[in-house]
Amino acid sequence: MSALSQKHLLGLKYVTKQDIELIFQTADNFKDILQRPIKKVPSLRDITIANLFFEDSTRTRISFELAEKRLSADTINFTASGSSVKKGETLLDTVRNILAMKVDMIVMRHSSSGAANFLSENISANIVNAGDGTNEHPTQGLLDGYSVREKFGELKGLNYLIIGDIKHSRVAGSDIPLMAKMGAKVKVCGPPTLIPKHIEELGVTYEPNLKKALEWCDVANVLRIQLERMDIKFVPSLREYSLFYGVNKVLLNSINKDISIMHPGPINRGVELNSDVADSKQSLILQQVENGVAIRMAVLYLLAGRA
Ligand code: CP
Repeated sequence: MSALSQKHLLGLKYVTKQDIELIFQTADNFKDILQRPIKKVPSLRDITIANLFFEDSTRTRISFELAEKRLSADTINFTASGSSVKKGETLLDTVRNILAMKVDMIVMRHSSSGAANFLSENISANIVNAGDGTNEHPTQGLLDGYSVREKFGELKGLNYLIIGDIKHSRVAGSDIPLMAKMGAKVKVCGPPTLIPKHIEELGVTYEPNLKKALEWCDVANVLRIQLERMDIKFVPSLREYSLFYGVNKVLLNSINKDISIMHPGPINRGVELNSDVADSKQSLILQQVENGVAIRMAVLYLLAGRA
């Protein structure tokens, strides 16, 4: 087992359990390298990667860029602001022009769900989806799964809870297929208006009561309310949301279990998650960010082998 089944990483709904295991094992090797004084390897020395960010990002953009530099790839960074997108250039024209400069791989974040799939049907370079609208964020799903595996040894049989705005979350869109493929049980918790219809068809159960949901889980991934993706209001106010679905130390102390807390970032402190949990020993948040670099190195390295 040494190659991915896919030429692109568009979403975790398309990858196999074997692909996920291969990415995790490859990330283990890169994580070891990242602990050394010299963190750079020549694996992608002849590869040029374009990071196309049509939507804002801190963690994902920096993590991909760092992963590429650690692999010795040449990189170019594009953001929509300040580009000819502002003059009306289409996505496909933008990417075709960048590829004409002999770029080998595209990492793309876009506000439109399906943008990465659309590109994959129209260009020949490898594409890594760095988050598309409300659809998927596959490297986030992989780093989440990897961080849980690191903490618990394996994902099989674990109770994995996702709290909050599931409806607009591309993180949930990638975490759910990954956890299901790796044998974890997934439950979601949040206001009914923020839970997708027919979620049970994905093998996921729904618990509206946060305390009961927390008592069930081994690890909880707390999501942000994604106001930028809402054209109407789905909750009466953030204050009310926080009262019913905010995770804080008092609530965690009231359950008879020491669970781990994750968050993909950015955190709205005091809304979905309080600082007394985000910055506590129960939090895996900065381990998630650290692991993101090794996971993205693994994905880029394995996809480059499939060019
Ligand atoms: N987790 C995540 O995608 O964060 P950024 O939006 O900062 O990249």
